[in-house]
Amino acid sequence: MEKMSIAVNSSPLKLGVLLSGRGSNFLAIAGSIREGRLPGVEIAVVVSNVADAPGIGAAQELGLPTAVFVSKGRPRAELDADVIGGLREHRVDLVILAGYMRLLSPGFIAAFQNRILNIHPSLLPAFPGLEAQTQAFEYGVKVAGCTVHFVDEHLDHGVIILQRAIAVLETDDAHSLAGRILAEEHAAYTEAIARVVSGAYEIRGRRFVPRGTSGAADAASPQSLPE
Ligand code: GRF
Repeated sequence: MEKMSIAVNSSPLKLGVLLSGRGSNFLAIAGSIREGRLPGVEIAVVVSNVADAPGIGAAQELGLPTAVFVSKGRPRAELDADVIGGLREHRVDLVILAGYMRLLSPGFIAAFQNRILNIHPSLLPAFPGLEAQTQAFEYGVKVAGCTVHFVDEHLDHGVIILQRAIAVLETDDAHSLAGRILAEEHAAYTEAIARVVSGAYEIRGRRFVPRGTSGAADAASPQSLPE
């Protein structure tokens, strides 16, 4: 059994948001902080690998610190070293991938072990990778959704923190489905961050278990529960 929670080394707890595009998840998180749904949390820096990402412009308009490390043509490890440096400079506790279209190097994952979250627009492990909503729609699933998970060295694979599901409607196309999934993402990311920063959870195998709940699988062997 593995126990884990992020060690909070600062107050407030500092998020480093990484994005490559429009940044609607970033804006949803910023809105949650502004409206008091993530007490004790602040965005320390917004980082992009794309100079003209709309999300970076939005961060600047909000007056948040930003950093751009252009990825094009650069070796992954070299880019990641710069990004890690930027995050450390802003004393980031928890890294939030919000549409960051880069795979992280093993060195990045090790530098922020168990402190990197990602959101993916499918019910993992179904439909990892690009255009997950279109993959799901074309596969013909009747239930779709999104997943917030810790990041490990495999694509869209780490421990699942939470998922939100929605019905696929007869009237949907891939675009309308993606729009309704995105609305779920915006709520799900805030909820997942709140769970993680609370520190009140344990990881058992692949299972994220809020502390104080035994979980069905453990009910038969309570002696195996950690303190
Ligand atoms: C979202 O669908 C997210 O699940 C995926 O990338 C997209 C980013 O959208 N990882 P946005 O930039 O947050 O609007």
